[in-house]
Amino acid sequence: MLIDFVWKKSEVNILPSIPAVQLRHAGGKIGADSKLIKGDNLAVLKHLSEDGGLKGMVDMIYIDPPFATNNIFRIGEGRANSISSSKSDRIAYDDSLNGMEYLEFLRERFVLLKQLLSGQGSIYVHIDYKIGHYVKIVMDDVFGEENYINDISRVKCNPKNFSRVGFGNVKDLILFYSKSGDPIWNEPREKMDEQQMERLFRKSEADGRRYTTVPLHAPGETENGETGQPWRGMKPPKGRHWRSPPSELERLDKTGLIEWSKNGVPRRKIYADENTGRKVQDVIEYKDPQNPSYPTEKNINLLKLFIAASSNPNSIVLDCFCGSGTTLKAAQELGRRWIGIDQSDEAIRIALQRLRKEQSTPHASAAFEYLEAVPAVAESASDLSSMETTTSHPKKMREALRAALSE
Ligand SMILES: C[S@@+](CC[C@H](N)C(=O)[O-])C[C@H]1O[C@@H](n2cnc3c(N)ncnc32)[C@H](O)[C@@H]1O
Repeated sequence: MLIDFVWKKSEVNILPSIPAVQLRHAGGKIGADSKLIKGDNLAVLKHLSEDGGLKGMVDMIYIDPPFATNNIFRIGEGRANSISSSKSDRIAYDDSLNGMEYLEFLRERFVLLKQLLSGQGSIYVHIDYKIGHYVKIVMDDVFGEENYINDISRVKCNPKNFSRVGFGNVKDLILFYSKSGDPIWNEPREKMDEQQMERLFRKSEADGRRYTTVPLHAPGETENGETGQPWRGMKPPKGRHWRSPPSELERLDKTGLIEWSKNGVPRRKIYADENTGRKVQDVIEYKDPQNPSYPTEKNINLLKLFIAASSNPNSIVLDCFCGSGTTLKAAQELGRRWIGIDQSDEAIRIALQRLRKEQSTPHASAAFEYLEAVPAVAESASDLSSMETTTSHPKKMREALRAALSE
């Protein structure tokens, strides 16, 4: 245990204290693998883990929770930009929890999310520079410091020129952990532009084929293995080993893939036309949409990057603070099954609209089910018209949801 405070619940006490809910069908295809669920995520996560059969089944989680900003995020007609919102706009969500109460709110959800993750699963938590370092400690506590993989800096906007003291803040951060140290990892590569290619591949063969060269050896001595043995009478330099055994170096040389310098130093040739791009680094630029459909809506390509790297086709991807459904849409377009949870009427209305819109990939029209969490004690009616008596939906919102479902 890394952190302790007076009202920190022990993990065994968290589950019994969460109210039981059941999920009531409210639209879409009954029993579809992908599900959009309206409700408080703590109760829904418990239900999915205990009754929904999803414990240990989720390969990838991305969450973008409130950041403890003390703001109320609003949405107006055709406008969801948090900077230009007006007091008369409808509330999308309230971000007023802060301090230890906020951290405990997240910690309880992390405990459930960990239960849901599969052995090859991983979790990405999107957070900002003010609260992010505290969230890191909470995540170390729940997921284990040894399972921490990255703190990814995401450049979110253009440089700022405010007169406020301090450096302009153009980034937020994403904390990336695995469940067990052996997560799904489909190495993401980024394409280099022509300038970068020219800078890297400066040499060319007689036929114009561009290439560069890299050393044949790498750091670290091999004690007894083949890569520490002499090749053509040369030992690898002190403190290094051959990247390939001498027999492979011999083959490379015979096929013209080794270049010898005037002083007899061999280097491996790497060709521009075989280049698969470069490893994505931990500083990435994905600016959010300028005209979002929901306040704090994230860039869908950021989600596609994480989902493609940390899940496989058919994996289950989960976002329990799904807002306008960016993660769900990205997962759907990549052919993953998905589960999205949000408690805001506005979020659900917009997520439904976005998920039903014509999309660009073959998986886009995959069916999903829309469900609502209701207290487990109250046996629920099964259609939208009965919501009036069982939930607190105002009439206008019921109509908006019905319209979104039939679009
Ligand atoms: C920052 S927004 C997510 C935005 C989302 N990533 C997108 O691209 O649209 C956070 C969301 O968490 C939801 N939320 C906050 N507390 C919640 C809770 N206890 N249960 C379910 N949803 C919650 C809010 O309604 C809000 O939509």
